[in-house]
Amino acid sequence: MKKNKLFAMLAVAALSVSMVGCGSGSTGSTSSSGSSGSTASTSGGANSTKPLVWFNRQPSNSSTGELDMTALNFNDSTYYVGFDANQGAELQGQMVMDYIKANAATIDRNGDGVIGYVLAIGDIGHNDSIARTRGVRDALGTGVESSGATDASPAGTNTDGSATVVQDATVDIDGTTYTIRELASQEMKNSAGATWDAATAGNAIGTWSASFGDEIDVVVSNNDGMGMSMFNAWAKDNKVPTFGYDANSDAVAAIAEGYGGTISQHADVQAYLTLRVLRNALDGVDVDTGIGTADEAGNQLEEGVDYRYSEEERSYYALNVAVTADNYQDFTDSTKVYDKVSKQLDSSSSPEKKVWLDIYNASDNFLSSTYQPLLENYDDLLNLNVDYIGGDGQTESNITNRLGNPSEYDAFAINMVKTDNASSYTSILQQ
Ligand code: BGC
Repeated sequence: MKKNKLFAMLAVAALSVSMVGCGSGSTGSTSSSGSSGSTASTSGGANSTKPLVWFNRQPSNSSTGELDMTALNFNDSTYYVGFDANQGAELQGQMVMDYIKANAATIDRNGDGVIGYVLAIGDIGHNDSIARTRGVRDALGTGVESSGATDASPAGTNTDGSATVVQDATVDIDGTTYTIRELASQEMKNSAGATWDAATAGNAIGTWSASFGDEIDVVVSNNDGMGMSMFNAWAKDNKVPTFGYDANSDAVAAIAEGYGGTISQHADVQAYLTLRVLRNALDGVDVDTGIGTADEAGNQLEEGVDYRYSEEERSYYALNVAVTADNYQDFTDSTKVYDKVSKQLDSSSSPEKKVWLDIYNASDNFLSSTYQPLLENYDDLLNLNVDYIGGDGQTESNITNRLGNPSEYDAFAINMVKTDNASSYTSILQQ
């Protein structure tokens, strides 16, 4: 009898958590929340109603970029946390162009009138990577339109300017006309299949510089992991400015030694949001608590400055900031919690809960040196006991094999290897 009563109480508690989740979004209408609620309850057991957050790799079609709304609406407490890829990509492109303009007198190292750059591409099926490639090509004028958007395909080697996925641009700087050319670009994927691979980028700059090194005036990378690898392997010694993305601490420090600049994707905001949306669902409070609305401890972000939220996409996007020689001193520690959301929650209203969280590739520079340390700082503040699972960056099963007993956990945070693979995880939660 006691057991039955406990079970009934748990069932009510679970129901109320999912119902609070329904009403928490500003447009959570009864009909839509009602139908997604019933999908969740008919298609799985208790695990399928637990809070779930996708982060860093947004469930989407890796060829078209179309969002996987089934995964994003898995249950009423499902969200994605990432950052605004287009806003950041534009900033990155602009940062490179500004640098070129400001350094016109010295930028063209061999004086041939062509400002040549090489580009390291992270993952041709990852929307962050695609956006950054486009942002750089758009700002420099080297992009070519293909099916309504700037082509983000790798150009291979293009020292003669004949590639079709990019074009030569011309720019007038202080009365001199230069050509800007993407000399080479490739996806940095290693032979085992890991993308955004820093070692591959280090090898690529070795190959490129050996055959046309004097033509390379600028190095650009979809992220700092690859950017720093190219900087350390060649660009630093040759005084060639290198631009990355992520504002990892080592890259920010390298700005003092000639690294051109990077973009902070506000990982301190993203890591907080990743755990905060779970915390709110677990506490049965409005999802905006401690986000757009101050919580009892006084944690609050600023919408439009720190992040934006798309109700339709069930997604929180942190906003980006350019980090250059002008302001890098403010970004030297990428693992420091964001002041605005650094206050400890009270364990009586937010009791300890257990979270399963994976990082798709334990050797990804950004995720391991910036994102995870931040998560580890916030999990204490939010009273969450998180199990961190590090994947090999190659196969989903390497990670899903370690989600053998989802019933042990109260909530899940998932970073997929491939953005198409959400169902590899949700099918486990539905069993
Ligand atoms: C980061 C990359 C990272 C990738 C992993 C991106 O948002 O900028 O550095 O490798 O996420 O998914």
